[in-house]
Amino acid sequence: MTIQSIQLKDGSFIPKGGVGTWEMGENEFEEELEVESIYKSIELGVRLIDTAEMYGEGGAERVAGKAIQKAISNGIVKREDLYIVSKVYPFNAGRKNIFNSCENSIKRLGVGYLDLYLLHWRGRIPLKETVSCMEQLVKEKKIRRWGVSNFDVEDMEELLSIRNKDNEKIGENCVVNQVLYHIASREADTELIKFGIPLMAYSPLARAGTIVRQGSIFKNKLLLKLKEKYNCTIFQIMLAFVHSKPNVITIPKSTHINHLCENYDVLSDKIKLSEEDLKLLDEEFPAPTERRPIDMI
Ligand SMILES: NC(=O)c1ccc[n+]([C@@H]2O[C@H](COP(=O)([O-])OP(=O)(O)OC[C@H]3O[C@@H](n4cnc5c(N)ncnc54)[C@H](OP(=O)(O)O)[C@@H]3O)[C@@H](O)[C@H]2O)c1
Repeated sequence: MTIQSIQLKDGSFIPKGGVGTWEMGENEFEEELEVESIYKSIELGVRLIDTAEMYGEGGAERVAGKAIQKAISNGIVKREDLYIVSKVYPFNAGRKNIFNSCENSIKRLGVGYLDLYLLHWRGRIPLKETVSCMEQLVKEKKIRRWGVSNFDVEDMEELLSIRNKDNEKIGENCVVNQVLYHIASREADTELIKFGIPLMAYSPLARAGTIVRQGSIFKNKLLLKLKEKYNCTIFQIMLAFVHSKPNVITIPKSTHINHLCENYDVLSDKIKLSEEDLKLLDEEFPAPTERRPIDMI
C-alpha cells in the first residue's frame, strides 16, 4: 500500500504523510540508528522527509542525507521520487543569509534542490523580504516551492496580502503552513484550515503523548476501546485521526522500526477509522469552539 497525495495550489502533488527528523543529528552515537530509521522509512514507502537547518544545527539534514544517498545508491528510489522539506531559521530568512542557508541545507542533504522550503517561524525580518527571497530561490531552481510554519491567522493574513513591485500577490504562492496539530490540540481547526492552504501537522503523536494538556491520553476510554477494535495502538488511533483530515499532511517521527511500521500502516491507510469512529473521536477531543492561538513547541 502507498501513501496518497494531495494537490497543492501550484498544481503539484505532495504525499499526505512523511517522517520527521527533529532531535536527530544531535548525538554521534545515535547516528547509525537515525540513518537506518530514515532509510527504513524510505524502504517502507515513505517519500516525504521533513527536516530543518535548526535540527542538530544541520546534523539532522546530514543524517537524512546519508539515508537518502543509501536509498538512491541501493536503487530503492530516485531523487525525483522523494519530497524533501527543510526550514530556514527566522534570523536567516532575509536577503543577507537565506541563499547561503538554503545552499547549505541542499549540500547537507545532497539532493540538488528542495521540494519545499519553509520559514520555520516568524522572526524580525520583514515577511515581504522573506517572500521575495523565497520567490528568487524558486526562480534559481534551488527550491520547487515554499511555505511557512507556526503561522497563526494574523500572520497568514499579512502573508497573503504581500505583493511584489509589479503588484502580483506573491504571498499567495505559499503552499503549506506547518503547525502543531494532534488529536488533543486542534486550534488550527477553528480558523487556519479555512485559508484553504494545506496544513502540515507536526507532533501528530503529541510527542508520544507527553504534550497533552488534558492529562494522560493512555487512560482515555474511547482510545482504549478503539485500539482493541482496530487491533492497533493508541498512537495509531491518534495518528489515524490526524491523517483522516482531508487538507492535512502529517509527519510523525520515530527512530524505532516497529513504530515506523505502525505509522506506515496508518499513513498508507491500512488502518483506517470508520466515519462513525472519527465522529466519536471528534466529540471526545473537540476542536475549540472559539479561536485560540495555535500551540507551538
Ligand atoms: N515546524 C516546527 O516548529 C516543528 C516543531 C516540532 C516538530 N516538527 C516536525 O514534526 C515532526 C514530528 O513531530 P515530533 O517529533 O515533535 O513529535 P511526534 O511525531 O508527535 O512524536 C515523536 C515521539 O513519538 C514516538 N513515537 C513515534 N511513533 C510512535 C508509535 N507508533 N508508537 C509509540 N511512540 C511513537 C517517538 O519515539 P520513538 O523514536 O521511540 O518511536 C517520539 O518520542 C518532527 O520530527 C519535526 O520534523 C516541526
